[in-house]
Amino acid sequence: MKIKLIIGALAALCAAPLVSSGQEQQQYVLQTQNNAVVFTTNDAKVALQYFGPKLDASDIQSLLASRLGFNQNTYPAFGMGEDNFNTALSLEMPDGNLSVDLKLQDVKEEAIKEGKQLVFTYKDQSYPFSVKQYYRSYQGTDIVSTWTELTNEGKDEIKLLEFASACVPIKKGDNYLTQFHGSWGCETYMTESPLPVGTSVICGGDAVRNAFVSQAGFMISIDGKPQENAGRVFGGNLVYTGDYKTNVVATQSDVTVISGINPDHSTYYLTKNETFTTPEFLMTVSSEGKGGVSRAFHRWARMYGLHGSDSLRDILLNSWEGVYMDVNQEVMDKMMSDFKAIGGELFVMDDGWFGDKYARNYDDKGLGDWMVNKKKLPQGVPGLTVAAMKHDIKFGIWIEPEMANTASELYEKHPEWVLQQPNRPLVQGRGGTQVMLDMTNPKVQDYVFSIVDNLMQENPSIAYMKWDCNASFMNYGSTYLPANRQSELSIRYNRGLQAVCERIRAKYPNLVIQDCASGGGRVNFGMLRYFDEFWTSDNTDAMQRLFIQWGDSHFYPARAMASHVSASPNHQTGRVVPLKFRFDVAMSGRLGMELQPSTLTDEEKVFSKRAIAAYKEIRPIVQNGDLYRLVSPYDGGAVSSLMYATENKDKAVVYVYRISSLNNQYVPTLCLDGVDENKTYRIHDLTPQNEKRPCILDGKVISGRVLKTRGLDLGMLVPRFMSSVALELIAE
Ligand code: DGJ
Repeated sequence: MKIKLIIGALAALCAAPLVSSGQEQQQYVLQTQNNAVVFTTNDAKVALQYFGPKLDASDIQSLLASRLGFNQNTYPAFGMGEDNFNTALSLEMPDGNLSVDLKLQDVKEEAIKEGKQLVFTYKDQSYPFSVKQYYRSYQGTDIVSTWTELTNEGKDEIKLLEFASACVPIKKGDNYLTQFHGSWGCETYMTESPLPVGTSVICGGDAVRNAFVSQAGFMISIDGKPQENAGRVFGGNLVYTGDYKTNVVATQSDVTVISGINPDHSTYYLTKNETFTTPEFLMTVSSEGKGGVSRAFHRWARMYGLHGSDSLRDILLNSWEGVYMDVNQEVMDKMMSDFKAIGGELFVMDDGWFGDKYARNYDDKGLGDWMVNKKKLPQGVPGLTVAAMKHDIKFGIWIEPEMANTASELYEKHPEWVLQQPNRPLVQGRGGTQVMLDMTNPKVQDYVFSIVDNLMQENPSIAYMKWDCNASFMNYGSTYLPANRQSELSIRYNRGLQAVCERIRAKYPNLVIQDCASGGGRVNFGMLRYFDEFWTSDNTDAMQRLFIQWGDSHFYPARAMASHVSASPNHQTGRVVPLKFRFDVAMSGRLGMELQPSTLTDEEKVFSKRAIAAYKEIRPIVQNGDLYRLVSPYDGGAVSSLMYATENKDKAVVYVYRISSLNNQYVPTLCLDGVDENKTYRIHDLTPQNEKRPCILDGKVISGRVLKTRGLDLGMLVPRFMSSVALELIAE
């Protein structure tokens, strides 16, 4: 079978096909801003040959002619030939045959609104089963994605056993694997280690909060220990809300990444004419180290992958750590007015506002009963929106819509709506009574949609919702799914969740929604397609946040990272941290506060007001700028530092934090990677402790070349443990 399609600049090349094993090869190229991906096809397979900096047609010709490409099958299937293990696809045909024998049928190049797309269509040689494999390049970014559609074209069920989205070769070298692990209160901790020969597995531990244990994003360096601004690094991440699994398979000579939905416990029965779509796997390679990979993902997120990226995020006060569940009209009203007085823009009432028969005073009751607790809020939510209007502040509200407590009217009415297994006691989570609703059930989906819809219908001025999720699949069973489909629960739950999110977004595109799951348990691009930001961690200790936020910054832009100034001593760690340090850390993400403002001293109020005003000034740089990580807190040195710069580098913000202070400790010189060497910058201290005594750099004008190559001495800037500085740089 001859493939006729020839792409763009490679037309001349394709006219002279290369010959391999007696089969005619065609070539296809996807371009991004700086990279190219080169594929070849023959009648059996599509091989990825190259993924790296752009090559011209003659470079590609010489790469292929000299057989320097990866030549790796992009969708190896189980059961036939050499690709028997480490496969992307395995299934059981209706007659029990475990093998797949795919042959390429067709190739299409499509111009789409996001950029360009290649579609490879394969068919099994003997069974009515087909695969469509997509590769997409996103215009204006360096991100390429891939996913597949698996279709049963026959009438009998096919059992899907493995169904990865991607199988990608990475250049073998001195490879290191960068991963992000964590659990409640210490999410997204970065680990970096040499990539061992064998299979390294990255997978989530919890079908719902898929970022606990590990996050889906990872990086693999090619040139030794990963650096921030140099060396080749591959970055990959999956756009999925649920359980994922990535195998990094390293031999002595090759490295391959296979990534997709975690197939463990998730056999899927593909019925007549049904198509199973795997989630999108995003990838990039950069020669500018991990920083280059992060900037590519951030740009992609802002342009395509993160909801609401066209507007700036408000500075908010969340009531949780201020009053926990002791919410009521007077207290909320006062918090709004106090926050407005220091420059706040949005007030969010957290947990504790609902439940009638089962009032939500503790975490053991009320989830599912989304009616206002009239004792606490006699005028209902409208009482709060009216108060917000009076204080000229926006209003937001907390919900946990996928959940119920067994102590709730909802559970009394619909015990069949919660996840459960026959002949097993119901496992109950938080508060001893929390259970999860069965999002595979369309009635439950309607109900979950109605929680948001009713609140919005009754209170159209609600500007923000915090969507929480404090449980996992504790009872792995559904009363909605038939007995022989229980293994589809995780996949169908996530489809149900996505369907609800689609409906919410179709009706309420401008509502800002926070993705929260016991903190940062659901930080993934599957959720962020619908949500505007995520709650980074319930741990608000600024010192520990430096590590957590550093981890998150590898894939997720600052605008999405909710970072709040909370009380001192910190409620999670007990650490006493200066207010300035807390602000300087929170101002490197989406700034908010999470405390009772009435407990602030007058002096603290004055400082908070100044810091909030300063954040407003630099907000576009932080929320839309490019990130340069300068000194990692994981290095164990005296400081940690990062900066953001606008695209043309005419403005930047630099943060430096002193994270230890030993006698005679070496304090590094700070070279500012994110400035333009040909510009000159005026420096402004954003958050001086004493307005009249800003830091020694305030007002200085320094050339970009000096800032980048000579760098700044930090000893005087951050002399003591937990001292910090936030500097704005404006090109003259
Ligand atoms: C867990 C969240 O992470 C917290 O911020 C808070 O909203 C509580 N849930 C409320 O129950």
